[in-house]
Amino acid sequence: MTPVSLITHSVETTRALGGALAEILREGDLIILSGDLGAGKTALAQGIGAGLGVTEPMLSPTFTVVREYIGRLPLQHLDVYRLGHMQEVLDLGIDEVLDNGVTIVEWGDAALDALGDERLEITISLLPEGADSDRLLVFQIFGEAWSSRSDDLQMLVGALQ
Ligand SMILES: Nc1ncnc2c1ncn2[C@@H]1O[C@H](COP(=O)(O)OP(=O)(O)OP(=O)(O)O)[C@@H](O)[C@H]1O
Ligand SMILES: [Mg+2]
Repeated sequence: MTPVSLITHSVETTRALGGALAEILREGDLIILSGDLGAGKTALAQGIGAGLGVTEPMLSPTFTVVREYIGRLPLQHLDVYRLGHMQEVLDLGIDEVLDNGVTIVEWGDAALDALGDERLEITISLLPEGADSDRLLVFQIFGEAWSSRSDDLQMLVGALQ
Protein backbone atom coordinates (compact mmCIF):
# COMPACT_ATOMS: atom_id res chain seq x y z
CA MET A 1 0.00 0.00 0.00
CA THR A 2 1.33 3.43 -0.84
CA PRO A 3 1.28 5.67 2.21
CA VAL A 4 -2.10 7.26 2.85
CA SER A 5 -2.11 10.80 4.16
CA LEU A 6 -4.53 13.33 5.54
CA ILE A 7 -4.37 16.88 6.86
CA THR A 8 -6.49 17.57 9.94
CA HIS A 9 -7.33 21.16 10.82
CA SER A 10 -8.24 20.62 14.47
CA VAL A 11 -7.46 18.40 17.42
CA GLU A 12 -11.09 17.22 17.31
CA THR A 13 -10.60 15.83 13.80
CA THR A 14 -7.40 14.09 14.87
CA ARG A 15 -9.32 12.52 17.77
CA ALA A 16 -12.18 11.56 15.44
CA LEU A 17 -9.68 9.84 13.18
CA GLY A 18 -8.44 7.86 16.18
CA GLY A 19 -12.04 6.93 16.97
CA ALA A 20 -12.62 5.65 13.44
CA LEU A 21 -9.35 3.75 13.51
CA ALA A 22 -10.38 2.02 16.74
CA GLU A 23 -13.18 0.28 14.86
CA ILE A 24 -10.77 -1.79 12.79
CA LEU A 25 -8.36 -2.66 15.61
CA ARG A 26 -7.75 -6.23 16.70
CA GLU A 27 -6.12 -8.06 19.58
CA GLY A 28 -2.31 -7.86 19.27
CA ASP A 29 -2.19 -4.71 17.11
CA LEU A 30 0.78 -2.38 17.38
CA ILE A 31 0.52 1.29 16.44
CA ILE A 32 3.67 3.41 16.29
CA LEU A 33 3.20 7.16 16.53
CA SER A 34 6.04 9.39 15.47
CA GLY A 35 6.50 13.02 14.57
CA ASP A 36 7.32 16.40 16.00
CA LEU A 37 7.17 17.25 19.70
CA GLY A 38 3.66 18.35 20.50
CA ALA A 39 2.36 17.28 17.09
CA GLY A 40 -0.64 15.38 18.44
CA LYS A 41 0.48 11.82 19.14
CA THR A 42 -1.18 11.72 22.55
CA ALA A 43 -4.32 13.39 21.16
CA LEU A 44 -4.58 10.69 18.48
CA ALA A 45 -4.00 7.98 21.10
CA GLN A 46 -6.81 9.49 23.20
CA GLY A 47 -9.11 9.32 20.18
CA ILE A 48 -8.24 5.66 19.68
CA GLY A 49 -8.93 5.02 23.36
CA ALA A 50 -12.30 6.75 23.19
CA GLY A 51 -13.16 4.65 20.14
CA LEU A 52 -12.23 1.50 22.04
CA GLY A 53 -14.59 2.57 24.82
CA VAL A 54 -11.99 3.67 27.37
CA THR A 55 -13.81 5.93 29.84
CA GLU A 56 -10.88 6.74 32.11
CA PRO A 57 -8.99 9.94 31.16
CA MET A 58 -5.89 9.07 29.12
CA LEU A 59 -2.90 11.07 30.31
CA SER A 60 0.37 11.42 28.43
CA PRO A 61 2.67 8.49 29.23
CA THR A 62 5.74 10.76 29.03
CA PHE A 63 6.74 10.12 32.64
CA THR A 64 5.11 6.73 33.20
CA VAL A 65 6.46 4.25 30.71
CA VAL A 66 3.29 2.19 30.21
CA ARG A 67 -0.29 3.19 30.97
CA GLU A 68 -2.99 0.53 30.69
CA TYR A 69 -6.67 1.03 29.96
CA ILE A 70 -9.72 -1.18 29.66
CA GLY A 71 -11.86 -0.88 26.54
CA ARG A 72 -13.38 -3.26 23.98
CA LEU A 73 -9.79 -4.51 23.91
CA PRO A 74 -7.15 -3.81 26.55
CA LEU A 75 -5.13 -0.75 25.52
CA GLN A 76 -1.54 -0.03 26.42
CA HIS A 77 -0.14 3.40 25.81
CA LEU A 78 3.64 3.84 25.87
CA ASP A 79 6.03 6.71 25.31
CA VAL A 80 9.66 5.75 24.70
CA TYR A 81 11.00 9.26 24.06
CA ARG A 82 13.11 9.35 27.19
CA LEU A 83 16.35 7.51 27.24
CA GLY A 84 15.89 4.35 29.25
CA HIS A 85 12.14 4.00 28.68
CA MET A 86 12.59 1.46 25.90
CA GLN A 87 14.96 -0.50 28.11
CA GLU A 88 12.34 -0.52 30.85
CA VAL A 89 9.80 -1.84 28.35
CA LEU A 90 12.21 -4.58 27.31
CA ASP A 91 12.75 -5.43 30.99
CA LEU A 92 8.99 -5.65 31.50
CA GLY A 93 8.85 -8.17 28.67
CA ILE A 94 7.97 -6.63 25.34
CA ASP A 95 6.26 -9.75 23.98
CA GLU A 96 3.88 -9.81 26.87
CA VAL A 97 3.08 -6.16 26.28
CA LEU A 98 2.54 -6.66 22.54
CA ASP A 99 0.36 -9.77 22.95
CA ASN A 100 -2.07 -8.01 25.22
CA GLY A 101 -4.76 -6.10 23.33
CA VAL A 102 -3.75 -2.98 21.40
CA THR A 103 -0.40 -1.27 21.99
CA ILE A 104 0.27 2.35 21.03
CA VAL A 105 3.89 3.53 21.24
CA GLU A 106 4.76 7.22 20.98
CA TRP A 107 8.25 7.75 19.53
CA GLY A 108 8.33 4.03 18.72
CA ASP A 109 10.10 4.70 15.43
CA ALA A 110 13.32 4.84 17.44
CA ALA A 111 12.82 1.28 18.64
CA LEU A 112 11.41 -0.57 15.64
CA ASP A 113 13.86 -3.46 15.94
CA ALA A 114 12.52 -4.33 19.35
CA LEU A 115 8.88 -3.76 18.47
CA GLY A 116 8.35 -6.01 15.49
CA ASP A 117 7.33 -6.20 11.87
CA GLU A 118 3.55 -6.11 12.08
CA ARG A 119 2.56 -2.56 12.66
CA LEU A 120 0.70 0.57 11.65
CA GLU A 121 2.93 3.62 11.68
CA ILE A 122 1.43 7.07 11.81
CA THR A 123 3.69 10.10 11.47
CA ILE A 124 2.21 13.43 12.54
CA SER A 125 3.87 16.67 11.45
CA LEU A 126 3.22 20.34 11.84
CA LEU A 127 2.94 22.22 8.57
CA PRO A 128 5.29 25.21 8.52
CA GLU A 129 3.18 26.92 5.87
CA GLY A 130 -0.13 25.91 7.44
CA ALA A 131 -2.36 27.22 10.21
CA ASP A 132 -1.40 26.55 13.85
CA SER A 133 -3.81 23.67 14.09
CA ASP A 134 -2.97 21.97 10.77
CA ARG A 135 -1.35 18.56 11.06
CA LEU A 136 -0.22 16.17 8.35
CA LEU A 137 -0.80 12.51 9.21
CA VAL A 138 0.91 9.86 7.10
CA PHE A 139 -0.12 6.20 7.49
CA GLN A 140 2.06 3.25 6.58
CA ILE A 141 1.33 -0.41 7.22
CA PHE A 142 3.75 -3.29 7.63
CA GLY A 143 3.00 -7.00 7.72
CA GLU A 144 0.08 -9.24 6.90
CA ALA A 145 -1.98 -8.31 9.90
CA TRP A 146 -2.34 -4.85 8.39
CA SER A 147 -2.27 -5.54 4.65
CA SER A 148 -5.66 -7.25 4.99
CA ARG A 149 -7.03 -3.99 6.39
CA SER A 150 -5.51 -1.53 3.93
CA ASP A 151 -8.86 -0.92 2.20
CA ASP A 152 -10.53 -0.23 5.55
CA LEU A 153 -7.78 2.16 6.45
CA GLN A 154 -8.01 4.02 3.15
CA MET A 155 -11.77 4.28 3.57
CA LEU A 156 -11.70 5.69 7.06
CA VAL A 157 -9.01 8.21 6.16
CA GLY A 158 -10.91 9.13 3.00
CA ALA A 159 -14.09 9.70 5.02
CA LEU A 160 -12.38 12.48 6.99
CA GLN A 161 -10.86 14.17 3.94
N1 LIG B 1 -4.93 19.11 14.13
C1 LIG B 1 -4.46 18.82 15.36
N2 LIG B 1 -4.26 17.52 15.71
C2 LIG B 1 -3.74 17.22 16.93
N3 LIG B 1 -3.43 18.12 17.89
C3 LIG B 1 -3.63 19.41 17.59
C4 LIG B 1 -4.15 19.82 16.32
N4 LIG B 1 -4.26 21.16 16.32
C5 LIG B 1 -3.82 21.58 17.50
N5 LIG B 1 -3.45 20.55 18.28
C6 LIG B 1 -2.89 20.69 19.64
O1 LIG B 1 -1.56 20.22 19.64
C7 LIG B 1 -1.26 19.63 20.91
C8 LIG B 1 -0.82 18.19 20.71
O2 LIG B 1 -0.39 17.70 21.94
P1 LIG B 1 -0.06 16.17 22.19
O3 LIG B 1 0.30 16.05 23.61
O4 LIG B 1 -1.16 15.32 21.66
O5 LIG B 1 1.24 15.99 21.26
P2 LIG B 1 2.33 14.87 21.32
O6 LIG B 1 2.78 14.64 19.92
O7 LIG B 1 1.83 13.70 22.07
O8 LIG B 1 3.50 15.58 22.17
P3 LIG B 1 4.82 14.89 22.79
O9 LIG B 1 5.81 14.92 21.68
O10 LIG B 1 5.19 15.84 23.90
O11 LIG B 1 4.45 13.53 23.26
C9 LIG B 1 -2.54 19.71 21.75
O12 LIG B 1 -2.47 20.86 22.57
C10 LIG B 1 -3.63 19.87 20.69
O13 LIG B 1 -4.76 20.57 21.18
MG1 LIG C 1 2.67 12.67 23.68
